[in-house]
Amino acid sequence: MAFALCLPQISLSGTDALCALVEQLRLQPARNPLIVTEKALMQLGLHDTLISQLQMQGFDPVIFDGVIANPTDHVVAHALACYQQHYCDCIIGFGGGSAMDTAKVVRALIANPDKQVHDLEGIGHVQKIGPLLVCISTTSGTAAEVTSNAVITDTRRHVKMVIIDSAIIPDIAVNDPTLLLGLPADVTAATGMDALTHAIEAYVSTAAHPLTDHSALAAIKIITKALPKAVQNGQDLAAREQMTNGQFLAGMAFNSAGLGLVHSLAHQPGATHNLPHGVCNAILLPILCEFNREVRTQRFADIAQAMGVDTQKMDEQQASKAAIAAIRHLSEQVGIPSGLGALAIKETDIERWIAPALGDPCGGSAPRSATAEQIRALYLQAL
Ligand SMILES: [Fe+2]
Repeated sequence: MAFALCLPQISLSGTDALCALVEQLRLQPARNPLIVTEKALMQLGLHDTLISQLQMQGFDPVIFDGVIANPTDHVVAHALACYQQHYCDCIIGFGGGSAMDTAKVVRALIANPDKQVHDLEGIGHVQKIGPLLVCISTTSGTAAEVTSNAVITDTRRHVKMVIIDSAIIPDIAVNDPTLLLGLPADVTAATGMDALTHAIEAYVSTAAHPLTDHSALAAIKIITKALPKAVQNGQDLAAREQMTNGQFLAGMAFNSAGLGLVHSLAHQPGATHNLPHGVCNAILLPILCEFNREVRTQRFADIAQAMGVDTQKMDEQQASKAAIAAIRHLSEQVGIPSGLGALAIKETDIERWIAPALGDPCGGSAPRSATAEQIRALYLQAL
């Protein structure tokens, strides 16, 4: 048996990570990076240090700031056109999952000019690796800087296309907690719960192995402690740094162990109603944990322990249920809405999510598969 662990070549973390990145880039032949990012981040001046340091070192960065939340195939096309018009030679995704996913898919299209975004949907359709890709995370959750996944909305079909390929793992991942200090509490909460979902889905996945287990449990432990602190006080640099580490470890785990039905189900309201990915995950997480509990009882007992529950006097069943209670408590503590109903979702919205949820590739490593009827019932519970 062989265990695979797929990671970026270089991962830079800590308060000097941005400076360390510029040092690393000096060793590369590329000199004309396209920075793929969001307007809101530009307005906050988050890129200023990076851009000035790049310019000081003789780089000529070009900025594409047209990324939106839940990025679409159109956004990817615009970013690709910008890369080509300015004769760029490498890509820096700077932002949350949306910016980094856009950057990853631009890289794939540069190397595979005969393909469109929808041709890349699914597992292993990228084929050729593109130019140097750096991903700098400004949230603590998606772990897009670590992973081989990208999610892009197909504007024609109104579905989220999940692209999974080792050819889109960034070459360099950057987590600098100083970039997170201004992140609003609701975004901190949503992205942090996304990271917790990654760790839990990886831990109970059918593809979990000893290396992913250690990083998943460590991530659960760190996120449970640090997330409430980071939500309560965004300027808490120690909590921010712990969250960058926690979400990174969760990314390491799920990039090799895969995810599960929480993500498959969460992608659908995200696509049709443009809802935050982390919020959809957080709402669905305890429901799917309950669904999976009977086939992963011991693992959920481990999760309870990692979340700080004293399970010594509990049997396995009690401890596994305690994990779900701990997840609900953490969600409430950080202000996640109680259900999709609170986000204006109605029962009539559910039907069109069932087929794409069944076809979503994240479910491939789920510990328990679900029928269309079960998926409908799970969505109803989440209302
Ligand atoms: Fe996620």
